Amino acid sequence: FGGKQDTKEIDGKNMLRNMEASLTARDRVGIQDFVLLDAYMSESAFLDNLRKRFHENLIYTYIGTLLVSVNPYKELNIYNKKQMDTYMGVNFFELPPHIYALADNVFRTMLSEFNNHFILISGESGAGKTEASKKILQFYAVSCPSTKLLNNVRDRLLLSNPVLEAFGNAKTLKNDNSSRFGKYMDIQFDHQGGAVGGHILSYLLEKSRVVHQNHGERNFHIFYQLVEGGEEELLRWLGLERNCQNYSYLVQGDCAKVSSINDKSDWRTVRGALSVIHFSESDIEDLFGIIASVLHLGNIKLNTSTCHFLMETSRRLVFACVLKQGLTHRKIEAKTEEVLSPFSVDHAVYARDALAKAIYGRTFNWLVNKINESLDFSRKTVIGLLDIYGFEVFYVNSFEQFCINYCNEKLQQLFIQLTLKSEQEEYEMEGIEWEPVPFFNNKIICDLVEEKHRGMISLLDEECLRPGEATDLTFLEKLEETIGGHPHFVTHKLADIKTRKTLDRGDFRLLHYAGEVTYCVVGFLDKNNDLLYRNGKEVMRQSKNAIIKHCFPSSEPDSKKRPETVVTQFKSSLVGLTEILMSKEPWYVRCIKPNDAKQPGRFDDVLVRHQVKYLGLMEHLRVRRAGFAYRRKYEIFLQRYKALCPDTWPHWKGTAAEGVRCLIQHLGYKPDEYKMGRTKIFIRHPRTLFATEDTFQVCKHRLATRIQAKYKGYRVKGHYLKQREAATKIETCWRGMLARKEREKRAWAVKVIKKFIKGFMTRNQPACVDNSEYLAYVRQNYLTRLRDTLPKTVLEKDSWLTPPPIMEEVCDTFLLLKAEASSIFKGKKESYALSVCRPFVDTRISKTAELLSYRIQEFKTYVPVVKYDRNGFRPRLRQLIFTREAAYLVEEAKIKQRINYISLKGVSVSNLSDNFLILHVSCDDIKQKGDLVLQCDHLFEALTQLSLIANKQNCIKVVQGSVRFDIQPGREGFVDFKSGQESMVYRAKNGHLMVVSVNIIEASLEQTKN
Ligand SMILES: Nc1ncnc2c1ncn2[C@@H]1O[C@H](COP(=O)(O)OP(=O)(O)OP(=O)(O)O)[C@@H](O)[C@H]1O
Ligand SMILES: [Mg+2]
Repeated sequence: FGGKQDTKEIDGKNMLRNMEASLTARDRVGIQDFVLLDAYMSESAFLDNLRKRFHENLIYTYIGTLLVSVNPYKELNIYNKKQMDTYMGVNFFELPPHIYALADNVFRTMLSEFNNHFILISGESGAGKTEASKKILQFYAVSCPSTKLLNNVRDRLLLSNPVLEAFGNAKTLKNDNSSRFGKYMDIQFDHQGGAVGGHILSYLLEKSRVVHQNHGERNFHIFYQLVEGGEEELLRWLGLERNCQNYSYLVQGDCAKVSSINDKSDWRTVRGALSVIHFSESDIEDLFGIIASVLHLGNIKLNTSTCHFLMETSRRLVFACVLKQGLTHRKIEAKTEEVLSPFSVDHAVYARDALAKAIYGRTFNWLVNKINESLDFSRKTVIGLLDIYGFEVFYVNSFEQFCINYCNEKLQQLFIQLTLKSEQEEYEMEGIEWEPVPFFNNKIICDLVEEKHRGMISLLDEECLRPGEATDLTFLEKLEETIGGHPHFVTHKLADIKTRKTLDRGDFRLLHYAGEVTYCVVGFLDKNNDLLYRNGKEVMRQSKNAIIKHCFPSSEPDSKKRPETVVTQFKSSLVGLTEILMSKEPWYVRCIKPNDAKQPGRFDDVLVRHQVKYLGLMEHLRVRRAGFAYRRKYEIFLQRYKALCPDTWPHWKGTAAEGVRCLIQHLGYKPDEYKMGRTKIFIRHPRTLFATEDTFQVCKHRLATRIQAKYKGYRVKGHYLKQREAATKIETCWRGMLARKEREKRAWAVKVIKKFIKGFMTRNQPACVDNSEYLAYVRQNYLTRLRDTLPKTVLEKDSWLTPPPIMEEVCDTFLLLKAEASSIFKGKKESYALSVCRPFVDTRISKTAELLSYRIQEFKTYVPVVKYDRNGFRPRLRQLIFTREAAYLVEEAKIKQRINYISLKGVSVSNLSDNFLILHVSCDDIKQKGDLVLQCDHLFEALTQLSLIANKQNCIKVVQGSVRFDIQPGREGFVDFKSGQESMVYRAKNGHLMVVSVNIIEASLEQTKN
């Protein structure tokens, strides 16, 4: 909550949500709510707290719901959007005091109770009222729900400020931006809280400033802004020069330039704002035409001897010639005719100034009305903002200060009435006995000023209106006569010797609630009359300027009937204002000025003490504390402290009031320390509350640890449950997958068993789909067993494993053939080993061979071969057929050569891996064909068959290197065999047939190695 506060504060927002920060922060930077100040009767304690906070840049402090604000005279980083967000919708006491908290509270109360409110911002000149009202307006502009349409209203509401400030504020000795008019602004809200409109009431502009400024003060800002910031073209058109020193109305205070004011940039703001608030170009032209005209008017020189005046710079004064007469002559009615009588010099100056004031004053009113037109006001719920000129005391105080200070008296009176009333009402509402508090009631001063017939205002009016030579001094005498004995009124004549020294003869002194003010009576009558010569008004009516025309209507009654005096008008408007305010719920911001030098960080004890006193802050605090220092709704109190009692923690089942009773009994509150109201608990002494709060602070840590432990447990348990769930899921999926696999396996097994059984049942039937696998299995099974129990010799027929029925028949011949092949080739021909595992078949007969069967009876077997021509070794596809008697070489169905087994001399094969065989035939006849050179893929099968069929076991020769053969009787040929990298058959240069073969065994071994 301290000066180092901001970021931490905002970050900790959530933590603070349910806390009453004023309690927790009390030991660090003073007390945030004066109500909790133990020494509440002590002004010094009050001041100490304010000072301590001020030095930590904590400019806001509460007295209950009243906000005390000390002007920091420097920019604080507490008005940004982040801060606004922090305060939006948060309970009043939950965060450190801030103007936003008050604004938000008013707004939310208005929305929930649907009634009207106003925020009274008071304090002396320069205390920060206008700034506070701007901050509130900005808060609403940002925080209220908005639409595009509403944004327009919002912008106009916001921008009305710089415009009104330009025309109605000025630099004074007290404040560089002093409000010289009173402003009451209603911001109007719809049901949803959207700002939908507004209305401004203005009070008594200090017009005299237009023509006269005290030393060190300025005219209204707009004049300087126009001269300094106005565009070249505009100034030329208005006949103005860019130099304030050239205009007598701008230099009387001798400080046209002020370092704290940037007229140029302010001009741009105002110019921009005027366009947003629906000012047409012609309105703007007319408006600045008037401002320029007032400056020109001020420069009109009146020649003392002739009263002849020179128009120096009057180009924009369209009414120049008429004006001349208007300013130099007065119209007098003589019986039936009107006569023009020339003015004296003084009169002429007076008339000129009166005209300037009237023009500016009426234009200001026009401006306020014009802004109101753009703000669209229809009565809904409103929040009013009252920012009026603060109480002020100058070295010389005049009629204006009298009005301003009277206004402040009235507001103080209203404040007293309302605060006392509301406090009383609260006690009544809650059914608690009311204990009256003594306080200074300023009604006595209000009465002194405004009482009918006897009051100062009545006396002043009387003096103004009475026939005869009434002067300011006669007015003073009258005051002395009528109210001379009043304790709050003193004059030079009435004062004791000591006081008399401080008063001039023309002075009177009022003892205001806020202090003594000495007024100089000079000018009271004139200013109160505010006479504008008839002639002047008539002149104005002839103007072409639309605003002037509007401000000086021809329907205005002539001076025959006296208009109401200024002070009476002001009094009536204040009565109106009081009525407006009384009908609304009040909220207060009390502004305090820390020093007179406008310096940051300086806290002038005497000055602040004085303000604390006259603002009635001590009394307000006393009223708040008269009965009970602290009060809160039962729900809020219970919510905060329920942890301190086992019965109320963590939840209280009954009503909040019962809960609070149970809680405070547990805490041991004594009967005189508290009272139970209808909706609130009232605690008499802060120490009781602080003791409770301290207990809570201790308990809070214990609770926090418990909550933390619970929360950690909760999180870990959640984590564990998640993990367990995941594990179960994985397990389920895994089991599912295993079960599916098992099912597939079983389904497969069932199929296999089924097939096996079917195969078994159909094992004796011819081969078909059902039994094919079964039979294959039987065969394989038999052969595997056979391999392990193979008899030593072929002849041991009895020791052969009994074949299954399907193999019975095959077995004999098959094994016979294999045994035969083994005896012929084993260990002799390279490729034999690989042929062992290949089964022999009966025949490799094809359809064409079948056809042959008609001519070749009883053929035994048949193999396809490649026959090489004896001459030239051309390869030709042929079939070799063995019958009982002979072998046939056949091409398709044609027998090419018949070889009787008797004439078959022998068969030669190489010892290598080739598949060539040479059939040697005995040739008796030269015509007979010679030996056959053949190549056969089923070499072993064919030769084994041949050996068995033709009984030629001994004539099969395995030879090395080369085989000689007969091409025809007497003519020989050769086939050479050798091993190589690649199988090849070709006719060598020597005329031999060269057969190159790859060693099959080695090649396959090589392959397996790779
Ligand atoms: N909250 C604030 N933060 C920073 N500066 C501030 C604050 N309030 C006031 N000031 C400074 O103090 C100056 C005077 O404040 P402001 O004009 O609000 O006084 P006022 O009470 O309206 O006086 P007057 O009665 O003369 O109009 C401002 O111009 C500004 O420089
Ligand atoms: Mg102000």
